[in-house]
Amino acid sequence: MRDSLRDSPHFSDPVFEAWCAHDADSHDRAVIRAMTRRRETPVHLVYGDVLKDAAARAVSAFPGDVLYAVKCNDHPMVLRALYDGGVRHFDVASIREVELIRGLFPDSTCHYMHPVKPGFAIEEAHHMHGVTAFALDDLDELDKIDAALGEDADKGAVMLAVRVEMPRGQAAMDLTGKFGAPVQKAAAILAEVAARGYQTGLTFHVGSYCTNPRAYVTALEICRRVQRLARVPLDVIDAGGGFPASYTGNEGPFAAYVTAITETVSRLNFLGRDGRAPVLRCEPGRGLVGLGQSILTKVDLRRGGDLFLNDGVFGGLSELKYLGPYFPIQALRPTSVGFEPITGGGSADFQLFGPTCDSVDSCPGPFRLPDAVRTGDWLEIGKMGAYSNAYRTEFNGFHSDLYSAVSGQPFWAKSSSADASRRAA
Ligand SMILES: Cc1ncc(COP(=O)(O)O)c(C=O)c1O
Repeated sequence: MRDSLRDSPHFSDPVFEAWCAHDADSHDRAVIRAMTRRRETPVHLVYGDVLKDAAARAVSAFPGDVLYAVKCNDHPMVLRALYDGGVRHFDVASIREVELIRGLFPDSTCHYMHPVKPGFAIEEAHHMHGVTAFALDDLDELDKIDAALGEDADKGAVMLAVRVEMPRGQAAMDLTGKFGAPVQKAAAILAEVAARGYQTGLTFHVGSYCTNPRAYVTALEICRRVQRLARVPLDVIDAGGGFPASYTGNEGPFAAYVTAITETVSRLNFLGRDGRAPVLRCEPGRGLVGLGQSILTKVDLRRGGDLFLNDGVFGGLSELKYLGPYFPIQALRPTSVGFEPITGGGSADFQLFGPTCDSVDSCPGPFRLPDAVRTGDWLEIGKMGAYSNAYRTEFNGFHSDLYSAVSGQPFWAKSSSADASRRAA
């Protein structure tokens, strides 16, 4: 039985080799490889050049430390590309993330910016991995950090950043309500951090996929109020994450957000230590990796305007449900010599369903796709670098751990530069 499956003309390696005989580039090889697997699963296509460029641009645009928020996508290929682009600081949220980063990049710096941490994790992060930056939003957490670091700790070498509560509604994905101390409480914690001899910081998160640079202005104004009340100098101002990836093209560049932050910091005249300005930090996740990955997923069934895919909300596609139908999608059809993009024949609105039995596993969209799409085709969903593989589960037995490194530009970048040159012609 096994042999006859392996030898099936549709799924054997010789077929894959034959399909790739015609000079396929790394993208086409990855697609063909996905289509010829006997047990098809979704595949993550990692565009290393895109990730490296995004990292290099962010590091050169931001006048401080750029901390990549590891939670957003922790695949080693992604992390390596960011490192190659110049990222040397990482925002980590668990001891496993600390271990991952220290193992891959021993010369990098981890900042443990989760405001609520287990005591053992603080202890191991500090004593075994040299972590000296932590976030907090409660005095109990300060006691926990004190205890974990121990009486002999050099507190003057440790920076504690108080996470400040943000107003609602500043970003597509609101993060208010879980972390962040209101102004008065944040000021009391900050004063206590300074009184106990630590370096001081303030941090916030405006919410993920924040498309309004003014949200950072408001956040910094709130931080300035905290500092005025606390009456202590600040060593660090950390503007957190939230920077958008360019999904629609209307988000504005990272540089616009950097300008809003730097202009506000200098206008508000934050008091630094010994006449020095506070060090600036930011923690982009989505903004660094959003464009650097695609997901290839198979259409297991078309039923009218519904497509049942082999990936979904419990896999890599939760952002399609919770953020919206922003993501570029190309439909691909297997052929006897490889595959071809499905074009022509008009388009239609679809909703997408994932492979599990759970009705939550649906993305209403609507997603505009070629009307010709049918059972057995594949979709390549672009700009899926943020919170895709990071969120996936093994629910109902569905899980994909397949990654392919792809060089060059993704399909949506090629088609938008072709559009631009057509417009220019
Ligand atoms: C503390 C912290 N920093 C940074 C980020 C990254 O956010 P984003 O991906 O929106 O840039 C997150 C995401 O939840 C976070 O919790």
